[in-house]
Amino acid sequence: MHFLYLAAAALAAQALAAPPRPVSPTLQHWLYSSEVDDQSLDLLDRPDIVGIQALYSWKSLEPDESQYDFSNIRDDYQKVLAKGKKFWIQLQDRTFSPSNDPVPKYMHTPYYNNGSAPSCDGDSCDADFEVTGWVAQQWNPRVRQRYQALLTALAEQFDGKITGLNLAETSIAVDENANNYSNESYFLGELENAGYAAKVFKKSYAVQYVNFWPDGWNNTNNRFKDSFNYYAKHGVGVGGPDLIPNKPGQEANSYAYIPTFHCKVPIAVVAVQENDLKEINQQTGKPFTKEEFVDFAVNELHVEIIFWAVATPWLHSS
Ligand SMILES: *[C@@H]1O[C@H](CO)[C@@H](O)[C@H](O)[C@H]1NC(C)=O
Ligand SMILES: *[C@@H]1O[C@H](CO)[C@@H](O)[C@H](O)[C@H]1NC(C)=O
Ligand SMILES: *[C@@H]1O[C@H](CO)[C@@H](O)[C@H](O)[C@H]1NC(C)=O
Ligand SMILES: *[C@@H]1O[C@H](CO)[C@@H](O)[C@H](O)[C@H]1NC(C)=O
Repeated sequence: MHFLYLAAAALAAQALAAPPRPVSPTLQHWLYSSEVDDQSLDLLDRPDIVGIQALYSWKSLEPDESQYDFSNIRDDYQKVLAKGKKFWIQLQDRTFSPSNDPVPKYMHTPYYNNGSAPSCDGDSCDADFEVTGWVAQQWNPRVRQRYQALLTALAEQFDGKITGLNLAETSIAVDENANNYSNESYFLGELENAGYAAKVFKKSYAVQYVNFWPDGWNNTNNRFKDSFNYYAKHGVGVGGPDLIPNKPGQEANSYAYIPTFHCKVPIAVVAVQENDLKEINQQTGKPFTKEEFVDFAVNELHVEIIFWAVATPWLHSS
């Protein structure tokens, strides 16, 4: 009784005082950028920045079937290495622009069913499906086969050189009655790709950005449990494109699983992308501060890397 009472009192006191929680010394700050340009290279000179995550579209890396062009990655990698910093690749198989198709041109044939499908991004796609971009048809085995061939070619060149490679987010909204799409085949196709990435990248991390599943809200159909168990079993790291502390939508989905699984997967990471910088902290009525982002990333999500958009205000102050 006595002990319990003391423990409860101590907890209550702690809650009242709310001292700042310790920040893990292992947290690394990285940049996130669609390209390695002068601005991002300048920011790499900051001693508190470990490296940069840069985006490459499938189309840009495979101009013709099985003809790979990794010169952009190699150039960027050399520039980053020359600064003594680390490099990370995000492989984009989807876009957020209707005029930009992410898959190589040679896939625009009936054999690949054109390779990509129109997609919708945002909260209102169920009610109002507006095409805002394209996604590779990863539910189509022929498309996956080409995607995995690309992963093999990338691993031959960059495994052990880059710190990691991540696949784009799992969130998707497409016309479910077109292009042979099904929730199940998309889910299984995404898992297979992630497992494949981890198989060919033996030294560098292979990470899946897993934020939402089309038929997996709040673990419906066991999508979150099954996918995270798969990642743990196959050595796939986990992460997401959006660090938004306490956001209900995320809390009901990946934010419930990243903390539970961070010790069972090789690495957990998260990005602060441009839109996340505009999110408002409901407790302060202001955008989240660096300290608030970091506190949540470390103490709630238990991630090891934050990838910060180059527009992040604190990066531009000393
Ligand atoms: C594939 O692309 C061609 C040319 O743009 C178009 O005519 C055709 O309808 C597309 N096929 C599918 C299945 O979307
Ligand atoms: C759709 O799936 C069926 C059955 O798996 C397959 O026979 C057919 O070729 C697929 N069509 C396209 C366009 O991928
Ligand atoms: C696929 O997922 C969507 C979104 O949850 C749902 O509306 C649809 O019924 C699902 N399709 C099937 C065949 O289960
Ligand atoms: C998620 O689902 C569980 C039951 O499976 C329910 O208890 C919980 O309230 C749901 N959470 C949210 C945020 O919808």
